[in-house]
Formats: sequence, C-alpha cells, structure tokens
Amino acid sequence: MVNKVRGMQDNYMESAERRQGVVARARSLFELYGYREIDTPVIEFTELFRRSTGEFTDIVTKEMYTFEDSKGRSLALRPEGTPTIVRAMVEDGLQNKYGLPLKFYYFGPMFRHERPQKGRLRQHTQMGVEVFGAAGVEADIEVMSLAYRLMVGAGVKDVSLLFNSIGCAACRPAYLGVLVDSLKKKQKDLCDNCRQRLENNPLRVLDCKNESCQTIIKEAPVIKNHLCDACAGNLREVEQGLGALEINCCLEDRLVRGLDYYTRTVFELRGGAMDPDLAQSALGGGGRYDNLVKELGGPDTPAVGFSSGLERVILSLPEAELDNTGGALGVFLVVLQKEHFERVTRLADELRGAGLKTIWDFSTSSLKKQLGRAGKSGAAHAVIIGPEEYAKQEAQLKDLASGEQEKVAWDRLVKRLEG
Ligand code: HAM
Repeated sequence: MVNKVRGMQDNYMESAERRQGVVARARSLFELYGYREIDTPVIEFTELFRRSTGEFTDIVTKEMYTFEDSKGRSLALRPEGTPTIVRAMVEDGLQNKYGLPLKFYYFGPMFRHERPQKGRLRQHTQMGVEVFGAAGVEADIEVMSLAYRLMVGAGVKDVSLLFNSIGCAACRPAYLGVLVDSLKKKQKDLCDNCRQRLENNPLRVLDCKNESCQTIIKEAPVIKNHLCDACAGNLREVEQGLGALEINCCLEDRLVRGLDYYTRTVFELRGGAMDPDLAQSALGGGGRYDNLVKELGGPDTPAVGFSSGLERVILSLPEAELDNTGGALGVFLVVLQKEHFERVTRLADELRGAGLKTIWDFSTSSLKKQLGRAGKSGAAHAVIIGPEEYAKQEAQLKDLASGEQEKVAWDRLVKRLEG
C-alpha cells in the first residue's frame, strides 16, 4: 500500500463539501466587488519566485519544491500565487488589453515544504485577490475590507485585521540600519535563524516566535517612528479609511511579512479557533507591492493584494458553522424489487431532468435498511416504490424529518415537491 505524502490532505464527503461551501461564498463575494477570475499554472520557472518572493526568504531558501526538466531548467511548484499573476499580466500585456485598474481573484493549490502541523500543510489552497494600477489608499482599503468580509462571510468568529506600514525605498533602509544596530547589541540571545536574518533579512526577525527573540523584539525600535512623511501620511489615511468602515482592526507596529516584495501597507487576518500565539495563526495576509511588476519586466504599476488559506479558515470555524450546508435537499429512491429497476432508471432520469436532486443506491435490501441510508443521505424525502405502488405508478413520499407519508403519482412528484 502506498500512502499519501506527508503534509498533503485528501478531501472527501463533508470535508470536500465544506471546502466547496467556503469557496462558493468567497467567489460570490469577489464578484460582488467586481473582480474577475485568473487561473495560472501550478508549475513555473524557479527564477520567478527567486526574483519576487525573495532570495533570502524562508519560502525560497528552504520551502520550495523544485526539480529539473529534461532541458536542465529549474522548475518549481508554486509556493504562492502573486508572482504567477504578475508574470501572466506582464507576459500577456493585460494592462493594455483590458486597461487599468485590473482586479483579479483566484483559487488554487500552493506548495511549501514546511514542517507539517495543525494549520500548516505542504499543499494548501489559497483564495486571494490582486489589484493592479491603483496607487491610492482606496485600493488598500478595498482589499483589506474584502479580506475581512471574506473571513466574516465564511463564518469565522472574532475576526481582527492587523495592519502596519513597512515603508518604502526612501525610508526603510535607514530604519533597517537602526533595527540592526539595536538587535546586534543582543545578538547572542537571538536564535540561530534570527542571527542569520540579521545578515540578509533583518525585518523578518520581528516575526520570530522564539521566546528569547520575543523579549528582544519587544524593545526593538518600531518602523512607525522612522517612516518618511509620504509613508506616514499614507499609513494615517489607511487607518482613517478602515476606521470609517465597520472593521475590527488594529495597527500592529511590529507586523512584517515573510515575503520580500511589499511596500508600505501590510496586513494579516486572525480570528476564530486558531490560537493567536501560533506562528501559523494567520488566516490570511497581504499588502501593497508597488515595485514588483516593474522588477519582473513590466511597466511601473502599483499593486495590492492578499490571500487566505482555505484549510486554516476551515480549522478556525466553530463546530456549528462546519456543516452549515443550507438544509436537506432532494429525494432518495427506495425501490424494493430488482425487476422494477429498468422503469425506475427512467423515473430517476425524469426527476433529475426536472431539476430535482435524486439519490439512488441500486439496493434491494429491506425497507428499514434503505430508509436508514436515506436518513443519512441528506435528502429531505424518501420516494418509496414497493410492488403495490409500482403497479399503480405511484410512490409513498416520506418526509424524512417529520416521518409523514402520502401517496403521490410519479408524474406529480416534482410538482408536489415544488409546492
Ligand atoms: P502568505 O502570508 O505567505 O502570503 O500566505 C497567505 C495565507 O496562506 C496565509 O495567511 C495562510 O492562511 C495560508 N498559508 C500559507 N502557508 C500555509 C501552509 N503551509 N499551510 C496552510 N496554509 C498556509 C502570500 O502567499 C501572498 N501571496 C499574499 C498576497 C497576495 N500578498 C499580496 N497579494
């Protein structure tokens, strides 16, 4: 027997239906905001992520699944969607074809070779949006409120949106200098990872959950006090804009993100049943990335987006929300004799043709057994056809919730159930 690969999930029955439920709500929300779908490949050139997600990020240095194709080129299973969407936009010149701003939504699997644990998989599914060609804070606020409403709409309780600014090329380098100076004084108490980050990705130290690093981080200078006037003004506008909407949010001045392309606004969503102290408690995250399109060879185009992990959202839902599938539907056929199957096949076809969900197990076991299966099937009614009913082209229509039963002619079943 060959088992599944560690950190991967099979989804079936309730778990597949739950995922579909969340995805369906997300899709209608994205469309409500006027976004359009984009679907990019799962495999890209490794170079794409090295140049965008960031050469020194954990994702690129440790977590990518890469392999060589037959021509010796390095390919990767995508660890995230954003670079793939920028690549598609630049490659196909979508800004010229469709005009700016471009507003996309997407769903799809992402792959990261992380240590699997609750809420952390090696294949996870993201649902997200990317907006290109909108420089103003209205776009940041639209994306943040969309992300927040996505969580609330999925049924997550106590959602909060944490946001920050990580500045721009004008102010961030000076802040990094101050940060590194301060962290270097306590270097010996930092974990091995953070000592490494001090050299090539110092901002990421702020995100370390290690206890001794946390003590040092609490005393480290915050970027808010080192932003240039333009970035400080921008952060104030974001704060005011969010304040005007009914969004539970908070400026978190040590919030940074694990990807390199962000400029100014960054944010994360938390809530529900996930322990907020866990590194993997973020239900979603995103921010502005004004330089990435240009860095990947496109025209200078501001951008902002976010994405959320479907599996984490489902983990954070309260029990009662999990099987909120909208009530029982359709009929379950209970046929007692094999010689009636031929005609019942046609009946099932007619019922489905009229739009009635019709479940049939092709069983001839006892009435009791079949009604037991019907009860578990999610159908609202059983349509029971025994020899007597068959002779009269009728069925006993049994309401599976109340147990009430009545005779209905086959050709009146759809009408009766609609009425
Ligand atoms: P990210 O924060 O790396 O951002 O991932 C987004 C979300 O995906 C996380 O908040 C989390 O819910 C989920 N996620 C990430 N890794 C895992 C994992 N190993 N297992 C389960 N869920 C996971 C991005 O990927 C950016 N592309 C977001 C973005 C879009 N920024 C701008 N536009």
